[in-house]
Amino acid sequence: MAQMIQRLLITGAAGRLGTLLREGLKPYAKSIRLSDIDALTEPARDGEEFLRCDLADHEAVSHMVEGVSTIVHMGGAAYEQYFEPILRGNLIGIYNLYDAALAHGVKRIVLASSNHVTGFYGTDEVVSTDMAARPDSLYAASKSFAEMVSSFYFHRHGIETVCVRIGTCISRPKSQRCLATWLSHADFVELIRCALQADNVGHLVVYGVSNNPRKWWRDEAAERLGYHPKDSAADYADQIAPLSQNDAHNLWQGGQVLGRDYRCGGKVPQDWKPDK
Ligand code: NAI
Repeated sequence: MAQMIQRLLITGAAGRLGTLLREGLKPYAKSIRLSDIDALTEPARDGEEFLRCDLADHEAVSHMVEGVSTIVHMGGAAYEQYFEPILRGNLIGIYNLYDAALAHGVKRIVLASSNHVTGFYGTDEVVSTDMAARPDSLYAASKSFAEMVSSFYFHRHGIETVCVRIGTCISRPKSQRCLATWLSHADFVELIRCALQADNVGHLVVYGVSNNPRKWWRDEAAERLGYHPKDSAADYADQIAPLSQNDAHNLWQGGQVLGRDYRCGGKVPQDWKPDK
């Protein structure tokens, strides 16, 4: 039986996935430190403490990490947008996090990466984690950077990391793309639990996806963690609108993100056309 984590840090705790993990990981940690740049929607309860922290603030991040053995890192810019928040949250933030983890003896980090790291593969391709990254946005490039930084800190300093390329983690699939990418809330929490508790993970990159027959990713690495997803997007297929033949976003795995332009604050410009 896996040991209880003494003190677990969850960053991005005010966000959608952080909020799910706050509940879902409770049975596996004696105490949980929650952190975010924003206030929590519900204040800290018994067994929890909250530290407000900007990931771009080196000293504050060191303070946030002090005294924890394990980190689930969900904080940072979570979609394509202007470069500044990506720079602060995901580039400077990831360096600050690993620098603090090294200083304070953190043993393992579970990192929110993204399926968009390989968003520029076609929807007719099957991708595995040993294939080259093809980020579909500056946001995705920042996640690729995080994967590389965590690799460096494992091979140089022995800090273990499981990078989870999260699919589309929402309550139920809502589009044809989701039939490939959906990750149910329950499967997400279970995958993070596996990533926290599996032995000797070293540096591992996995896709976070439910048991969808149409998934685009080979995920043997997730199986190695003992992750066996229970939900399937196929159960919702008859409730989802069919693909529009003209929808350019369907060509690449990244979907609509590909049309977003950081110069427009992450919006899809009216006149956008694909190059493919
Ligand atoms: P979210 O936007 O709801 O949560 C992210 C949290 O990070 C927010 O509460 C925000 O206040 C915080 N944050 C942003 N910049 C920060 C900074 N500089 N310092 C400290 N905190 C900061 O996003 P969500 O959906 O919960 O995603 C969590 C993680 O999972 C993100 O890293 C995202 O990129 C990744 N992800 C999520 C997917 C999904 O389907 N929800 C899909 C793929 C990846």
